[in-house]
Amino acid sequence: MIKKKILIINGPNLNLLGERESSVYGKLKLKDLYVYLKKYVLKKDVIITFFQSNEEGKIIESIHKARKTKEGIIINAGAYTHTSIAILDALRSYQGLIYEVHLSNIYAREFYRRNSYISEVSNGVICGLGFLGY
Ligand code: DQA
Repeated sequence: MIKKKILIINGPNLNLLGERESSVYGKLKLKDLYVYLKKYVLKKDVIITFFQSNEEGKIIESIHKARKTKEGIIINAGAYTHTSIAILDALRSYQGLIYEVHLSNIYAREFYRRNSYISEVSNGVICGLGFLGY
């Protein structure tokens, strides 16, 4: 059985999970998310790779690299979700499946979080379910 390769991208400030706004994002850390997901995929036919960056350009480069190497992308672009046409364009160049994730429910928060550029090219969007969403 050939395992599908999936890239999990976390964008800006998500490296501070557990320390930052824990009333919104919870007390668990990014490395807890990695442990949780590694365990989750143990019996699945997928191989996951994690990437986190606070820099827009690095996120774009990770998407470019995924074009030839990964069958799917799960992306939580953090605040770039609401601002980055550049990340949207990079995702447009990607042929595999794209799932957009947010830990919090972006529709129940500030008005400026309601627009997601990434949703336009996503096969699915999950928000408000914390780690489960991934
Ligand atoms: C987030 C929601 C964004 O609006 C915010 O800027 C984040 C995290 C989430 O996971 O809920 O950094 O993507």
